[in-house]
Amino acid sequence: MKAWLLLEQKGLGSLRLSEVPDPVPQRGEVILRVHYAGLNPADRYLAERQYPAKPALPHILGRDGMGTIIELGAGVAGLAVGQRMAILRGDVGGNRPGTFAERVAVPAEGLVEIPPGWTEPEAAGATLVYLTAYQALTLWGLLPQEAVVLVTGASGGVGTAAVQLAAAMGCRVLALSRSAAKAKLLLQLGARAVFNPEDPNWRQAAKAAAAPRRVDLAIDNIGGKLLPEVIDTLGESGRVSLVGRLAGPVPNFNTATLFFRRIRMGGVAVGAYSNEEARAAWKEVLKLLNQTGARPLVDQVFPFEQLPAAFDRLAEGPMGKVLLQVKGA
Ligand SMILES: NC(=O)c1ccc[n+]([C@@H]2O[C@H](COP(=O)([O-])OP(=O)(O)OC[C@H]3O[C@@H](n4cnc5c(N)ncnc54)[C@H](OP(=O)(O)O)[C@@H]3O)[C@@H](O)[C@H]2O)c1
Repeated sequence: MKAWLLLEQKGLGSLRLSEVPDPVPQRGEVILRVHYAGLNPADRYLAERQYPAKPALPHILGRDGMGTIIELGAGVAGLAVGQRMAILRGDVGGNRPGTFAERVAVPAEGLVEIPPGWTEPEAAGATLVYLTAYQALTLWGLLPQEAVVLVTGASGGVGTAAVQLAAAMGCRVLALSRSAAKAKLLLQLGARAVFNPEDPNWRQAAKAAAAPRRVDLAIDNIGGKLLPEVIDTLGESGRVSLVGRLAGPVPNFNTATLFFRRIRMGGVAVGAYSNEEARAAWKEVLKLLNQTGARPLVDQVFPFEQLPAAFDRLAEGPMGKVLLQVKGA
């Protein structure tokens, strides 16, 4: 089969489109013929050796995807050849080969059905970002009634998922995006107001939009120098779910900014969900999306041969998910 091989952990420049042996299913695994694969910043971090997984090299990246089951390993029950399934969770693309390939071996317990009415591209990139957004929203227990939720990097995969889920939960959603065009789309997704984090007055505008409350929960995908500004918008007992750090480390962080409002910050790790927890969370995600009719957002689909261009699009800042069309390659 054809696969994108990561030859060394020296960045995305180490990817090569290659011919490799087809995967063989081990006990409890199935082989999926990949139709679409989703890109995530984690793929780049792994390629740059900035991610906990330490796969054998050469490695196949790609944590998300959907396809058709073409082979069942021993001991697999309840699944059949020909079924179309998406990858819910697991180590695919982490410590085991991923979806930037024509075929991938997946533990059967890590698969989930395509939700009714969803297109294949919608299903291919949804699970990781919605589960992450759901964990970020539920990390601190029940949110106060009409909670104000601030989402940074709101236009990205996790960001759009967080905006949709928080809106479905009845929260007042404030979103951050550097792009005016994406701000308009975020309002359509359910954000009440969108601010540009590069505008020096965004905090004042966000506080005015949150009034008479302050921000109850911030979901932070960005880190860097934005995080102290995000903390400034929080109210009494405000919470921060730390998801990503696209702007790098936080410089000169002053812990005193947490004391007086008794602010708590905590890490989100979608990979820490057990299989049962991931399934329960996915059920809740689908319930919330069904309430509002929201669907996963697809930014752009790239042909299989154009994975490097797809990563360039991801780095630019997408609106939703960047995907790779693998079937038909
Ligand atoms: N903890 C976990 O379990 C977990 C799970 C999934 C993802 N993550 C992490 O969460 C982060 C977001 O993931 P994602 O898939 O949503 O990423 P994404 O699809 O690439 O989107 C991120 C968005 O953030 C904005 N952005 C990017 N770089 C920025 C910068 N330097 N300063 C300010 N804004 C910036 C862009 O929006 P605008 O152009 O509109 O501003 C972009 O659309 C990543 O760091 C990822 O690794 C963590």
